[in-house]
Amino acid sequence: MTDIEELLLSRIRDVADYPEPGVMFKDITPLLADPAAFTALTDALAEIVERTGATKIVGLEARGFILGAPVAVRAGVGFIPVRKAGKLPGATLRQSYDLEYGSAQIEVHAEDLSAQDRVLVIDDVLATGGTAEASLQLIRRAGAQVAGVAVLMELAFLDGRSRLAPALDGAPLEALLVV
Ligand code: PRP
Ligand code: MG
Repeated sequence: MTDIEELLLSRIRDVADYPEPGVMFKDITPLLADPAAFTALTDALAEIVERTGATKIVGLEARGFILGAPVAVRAGVGFIPVRKAGKLPGATLRQSYDLEYGSAQIEVHAEDLSAQDRVLVIDDVLATGGTAEASLQLIRRAGAQVAGVAVLMELAFLDGRSRLAPALDGAPLEALLVV
């Protein structure tokens, strides 16, 4: 494990049985509160922006906003919020995705993405991959190109990577930590 991986991992708190029994919640608030760790995370993600040639970042509400916005500033590219349905005032594209029980919808302002854009999706955790997959579908429906998906942490046992593969269509999934 590299020094940065060790630093990031040491600042993520496991919370048992949250938000429901049997779930191990990955709490990133200790990492956010540590300027050295948060800066290392931002720099590592900004390096992925450069490597993938992304020209825009899509952050996924809510924790993807916290990670994605400083990366956009650091990398000098635009930031586009993908929000839970009903929060954006303009004309939106909406995408549904399945949850364990029921479904959810996310939206993006249609005017924020165009064919010229190469978009990197940033989020904290890849679990089942449902949220990230829906965001890639939004990006493609808007006619933009997918540069990839970058997450702080991939929960390998849920195999979101396999679920995401068709929507990625060859673009990279970069996880700084695989747990
Ligand atoms: C969490 C996490 C990811 C998503 C991963 O978000 O931040 O966005 O779930 O799960 P998946 O891969 O199974 O889709 P959540 O919507 O729970 O909460 P948040 O608003 O705090 O980010
Ligand atoms: Mg989230």
